[in-house]
Amino acid sequence: MSVQSANATLIATCAGGLETVLEKEITDRGWQVTSGVAGAVRFAGSGFVPAEANIVLRTASRILVPVTAGRVRSYDELYRLTSRIDWPRLAPPTYSIGVTVISSDRDVSDTRFATLRVKDAIVDVQRRRTGKRSRIERRAPDIGVVAHVADGSAEISLDSTGRPLHIRGYRTEAGTAPLRETVAAGMVLLSGWDRVSPLLDPFCGSGTILIEAALIAAGVHPGIQRDDFAFLRWPGADRTAFEQLRATLRSPRRPEPEEVPDGDGGAPQSPPIRGADRDAAVLQVARRNAERAGVSDLITIDHRDFFAEPAGDTGGILLTNPPYGERMELEDSAAFYGRLGDHLKHHYRGSTAWILSANRAAMKHIGLRTSAKLPLFNGGLESRLYRIALF
Ligand SMILES: C[S@@+](CC[C@H](N)C(=O)[O-])C[C@H]1O[C@@H](n2cnc3c(N)ncnc32)[C@H](O)[C@@H]1O
Repeated sequence: MSVQSANATLIATCAGGLETVLEKEITDRGWQVTSGVAGAVRFAGSGFVPAEANIVLRTASRILVPVTAGRVRSYDELYRLTSRIDWPRLAPPTYSIGVTVISSDRDVSDTRFATLRVKDAIVDVQRRRTGKRSRIERRAPDIGVVAHVADGSAEISLDSTGRPLHIRGYRTEAGTAPLRETVAAGMVLLSGWDRVSPLLDPFCGSGTILIEAALIAAGVHPGIQRDDFAFLRWPGADRTAFEQLRATLRSPRRPEPEEVPDGDGGAPQSPPIRGADRDAAVLQVARRNAERAGVSDLITIDHRDFFAEPAGDTGGILLTNPPYGERMELEDSAAFYGRLGDHLKHHYRGSTAWILSANRAAMKHIGLRTSAKLPLFNGGLESRLYRIALF
């Protein structure tokens, strides 16, 4: 299995709710989307696609390389399907392996047992053919094998990513309820932000939305700093080709001067990505994260309570995930969202607010008409992204 195969069919997995923006990212890259299901987009492209997809896709969680698929109605059939694969070629016994089974299937519902059967199948084939078997490594295997089982069928893939793509690397510290980087990027893309209008996150915490917006505005690929993708440990991995690809993808596209709105005298303004939080300590974290991501010059961060007067920054978009109320009584969170709605209405006229919240009951108290409610999962937490036009 070469990751440089001329025509590759791949699966990009994503958080539920990000499928449409992920599809757009894929087609914008010139790759062809062939099908999609909840949480995954299947696509085809030519060239060094798994490497490029891992580096450039902002909303993908993992890039999988499918190996085989077939009908399975039992654990034994899953074993037999897995045994048909040429494992000594894909995973020679000197390479460690890890197996993950994801199942929504009725007959193969016990994922722990299914994982054992897939592992057994792999090491049995290795032993039969080479007399040796791979070591099982749970945390960071050389070869990660993923089996998806649903509706009487299974598909076996290799995980080309390793550490999931939402862990970009810049956020080595976080606030109390940080947003996944891929979800933050998805919020920016779902909002349709034009990359030049002011963007404000008044509850910015560790700065994830601001940083992802800045990476998008600057055209910096989210995985460009990363050199530990799983496929680089596969047999025959071509690190030189990977480095060449990285070099071609590296030059960031900072906004052209004409894309940035002029100030009074035409002097170039700093890009209008602004954040605030009332917690001074988390803002230090946000600033350091922005530094690590290489976008601190594109972001302004203020220590401010949202309910203080806004600093005249209306007209653009407000993209945020305020406290959900995990640690508040519903009464308090209802009051908080009520205040949030009032404040938006009185001080942000002309802006569009996009609010991510997992607290549907409290959101009802915002008292403003929502023109879109997009379901979005943040690390398994079912949330919604609400669009509110402020007149
Ligand atoms: C859910 S967290 C935001 C997490 C952020 N998206 C991230 O990725 O780290 C909500 C943030 O709102 C802040 N906050 C709560 N009440 C606030 C207020 N009245 N004004 C400004 N910030 C507030 C908290 O300090 C916390 O950092």
